[in-house]
Amino acid sequence: MTARTHKGIVLAGGNGSRLWPLTLTVSKQLLPIFDKPMVFYPISVLMLAGIRDLMIISQSNNLPLYKALLGDGRDLGVHFSYAAQDEPRGLADAFLVARDFVGNDRVALMLGDNVLYGQGLTHLLADAACRSEGATIFAYRVPNPEQFGVIELDGCGRPLRIEEKPSEARSNLALIGLYFYDNKVLSLAASLKWSARAELEITDLNRIYMESGKLHVTLLGRGIAWLDTGTFGALLDASNYIATLERRQNLKVACLEEIAWRNDWIDDSQLEACARRWGNSEYARYLLRTRRLEPWD
Ligand code: G1P
Repeated sequence: MTARTHKGIVLAGGNGSRLWPLTLTVSKQLLPIFDKPMVFYPISVLMLAGIRDLMIISQSNNLPLYKALLGDGRDLGVHFSYAAQDEPRGLADAFLVARDFVGNDRVALMLGDNVLYGQGLTHLLADAACRSEGATIFAYRVPNPEQFGVIELDGCGRPLRIEEKPSEARSNLALIGLYFYDNKVLSLAASLKWSARAELEITDLNRIYMESGKLHVTLLGRGIAWLDTGTFGALLDASNYIATLERRQNLKVACLEEIAWRNDWIDDSQLEACARRWGNSEYARYLLRTRRLEPWD
């Protein structure tokens, strides 16, 4: 087993029907969150976790769009591969689709429509990426837990119960769409039974880890923003949140090129080449300015 998690999956499937007509002809995870496509946000989280080998899973008809946007990743010092999931077979199905990609490694999965940002996040991600055994999931306090996977913890923060979209939630802790697993996830995913809604549920997978005492739950505190993008209002709120932060600090959130440069995966001249790709845009000018930012910016 390798020393840290090297493989990451971004699941960008689903037909986005809750956002029709916006998503009738565009994959939901390519819609803008302020100044960049939504999928940049989960990719940025996996890159901040130090993961360079990334697989994007989406419907076959959308894959060419993701390939046009992200390419093979060489310019970011990472590697993108692509795989199709044409039927909505559930989040845990990602591990069946990505079985060969994962190989003998540990793996992280992030949902393509989740936005996660905040101070100290990189350390929490590093801890999860370095954990050699079991699973790590992340819980976040929300007012509407019934719309998510919900976790109940005991007084010491140990997981007691996980439920997928319960009609009455036992806690206000939602499970966000970011999961780190050891390699056993491949065989466990293959052993799952179809749920009542005919999906392989990530919650069933996490329950197996919990029952064997191998589920680590990281609570995300109030300094972290986990944003939903499932409704028109939530989409606008996410854009406004990112716009407010970026304008206030003159720093970007989820700028993949900046993260690659700060991780020392690309050098100054590669960063400049990335900027040229984005032409005359404000995003390109930001990349050129990035070289003059301080390490603490
Ligand atoms: C999925 C998971 C759920 C999780 C949520 C986070 O739900 O099944 O446990 O809380 O993602 O975004 P979905 O949004 O796919 O219905």
